[in-house]
Amino acid sequence: TNRTFTMIKPDAVANGHIGAILDQITKAGFKIVALKYTALPAEKAGEFYAVHKERGFFNDLVAFMSSGPIVAAILEKDNAIEDFRKLIGATDPSKAEEGTIRNRFAKSIDANAIHGSDSDENAEIEGNFFFSAFERF
Ligand code: GTP
Ligand code: MG
Repeated sequence: TNRTFTMIKPDAVANGHIGAILDQITKAGFKIVALKYTALPAEKAGEFYAVHKERGFFNDLVAFMSSGPIVAAILEKDNAIEDFRKLIGATDPSKAEEGTIRNRFAKSIDANAIHGSDSDENAEIEGNFFFSAFERF
């Protein structure tokens, strides 16, 4: 497990935190192997979060994730999945540890600044969702 996938979500992009978040990620030892400033139309956001389609918050999640541009990236580091989840902090930023990305930059459980893959399998699927072979290094 040496790669993970991340998105800087629309709230953090709109609030001007792209630079600070990428800085924290690289200082924590993650190497950027793919990077893209883009957006998720509602249909694509629904596809990305399809595992949550039965959840009560699904429509809110899709609306939020398609509300503005995002930054997508593939990151490399030993133990990437687990270390990155630690770096971003709990899903609910009010429960995220001091100094984590969500603690620093997120305002609420729906607008929570950043995504991190939860397994090797999902990191692969999510990376392939955004990047072709020519866009990763
Ligand atoms: P991601 O890295 O974005 O996948 O977050 P996560 O893995 O910490 O949480 P999870 O995959 O369980 O949920 C995906 C996203 O749905 C979260 O990041 C939240 O933005 C949103 N979400 C999860 N639980 C709730 C909830 O109870 N209410 C609302 N409004 N949104 C939620
Ligand atoms: Mg998740």
